[in-house]
Amino acid sequence: VGKPYPPVEYGEYLKLDRLLTSQLPKSVEHGRPAHDETLFIIVHQVYELWFKQIVHELDSVLEMFRQDSVDERNIGVAVTRLGRVTEIQKLLIDQLRVLETMTPLDFLDFRDLLLPASGFQSVQFRLIETKLGLKQRVALEKLPSPGRAPAEQEDALRRAASEPSLFELVDKWLERTPFLELPEYHFWASYRAAVDDMLAADRRTIEANPTLSEAERLVQLQEHERTAASFEALLDEPTHDRLMREGSRRLSHRATLAALLIHLYRDQPILHLPFRFLTLLVDVDELLSTWRYRHALMVHRMIGTKIGTGGSAGHHYLMGTVERNKIFTDLFNLSTFLIPRSALPQLPPEVERRLGYHFPRD
Ligand code: HEM
Repeated sequence: VGKPYPPVEYGEYLKLDRLLTSQLPKSVEHGRPAHDETLFIIVHQVYELWFKQIVHELDSVLEMFRQDSVDERNIGVAVTRLGRVTEIQKLLIDQLRVLETMTPLDFLDFRDLLLPASGFQSVQFRLIETKLGLKQRVALEKLPSPGRAPAEQEDALRRAASEPSLFELVDKWLERTPFLELPEYHFWASYRAAVDDMLAADRRTIEANPTLSEAERLVQLQEHERTAASFEALLDEPTHDRLMREGSRRLSHRATLAALLIHLYRDQPILHLPFRFLTLLVDVDELLSTWRYRHALMVHRMIGTKIGTGGSAGHHYLMGTVERNKIFTDLFNLSTFLIPRSALPQLPPEVERRLGYHFPRD
């Protein structure tokens, strides 16, 4: 019995010779060393490493959802992996604080030496957005000219843009949920009655609110009308499809209803993991928006309202991406249609039985 594997050395295994010799400040190269440029490089490199890990996790989740029928056991694995992604995202947001120990003046010592490099050109960041399902965002022309970015990274981005994203796969997965095929079950009629009651109560509250001026009351009533109209769209497939064509809905009608049922009846054991999975998608999206916002704030304090090294309007451009670049907006919007547990239509016993964990009796 000899040693089955050759011994492994810490530094060799981690390729530290390459990793730790990859910080080459431009300010040093140009003979005017700026102390903080090392921090600037290392912070960006650490980001890219974490981006790589996020891509690795997303790829495994995408693989599970690419199957014609998603193995139920995989939902638990997807929940674990997306949970890991969200923990990394929290680090990524916090990490900006380290970079903010560099003052704007210190940044000016080397900023001009970096033109036209920019976070715009982070292929891995685009890869994450694309794999999650952000549309019209590949913007390959913003990437470094051919030969500058690793070719395999660019290829990966093109491939990701041509393959179904997590958004699209989740859409299909929700559409396949068997929960919608309930025999003899008039769920939607009872649900509609419960929501109508809720909306009527909201309306009465607005009408009777003594603190509102007439003008404010009018605004609130109009807002209420919009909520009622979007509820109509939820239950009416042609209206929903029209909103999809207009771009204000992205999840299909069937998938939206399935997601809503999962939210409403998440206390049923079998729906619990799908519920956690959908919640994590919202978490990932929210943390990405938080990062965008946080990065935009940092950019504001670092460069004020100057344009970016990548040529954008800088802070203003970045603030715009916070709202514009949400992916799972339809899942966020579902909360509009949630009703209290007490008002929820009772599931027929047969359905309830099918949704529980139960052991067949001999
Ligand atoms: C002093 C620090 C930083 C400044 C002043 C800064 C500035 C900017 C600016 C102005 C843009 C808009 C594009 C442009 O015109 O260049 C941008 C985009 C971007 N930055 Fe930064 N950045 C900083 C640090 C970072 C760090 C640490 C990361 C981490 C990877 C990062 C990642 C990105 C990404 C991914 C974009 C593209 C965002 C999008 O288009 O939605 N930035 N940055």
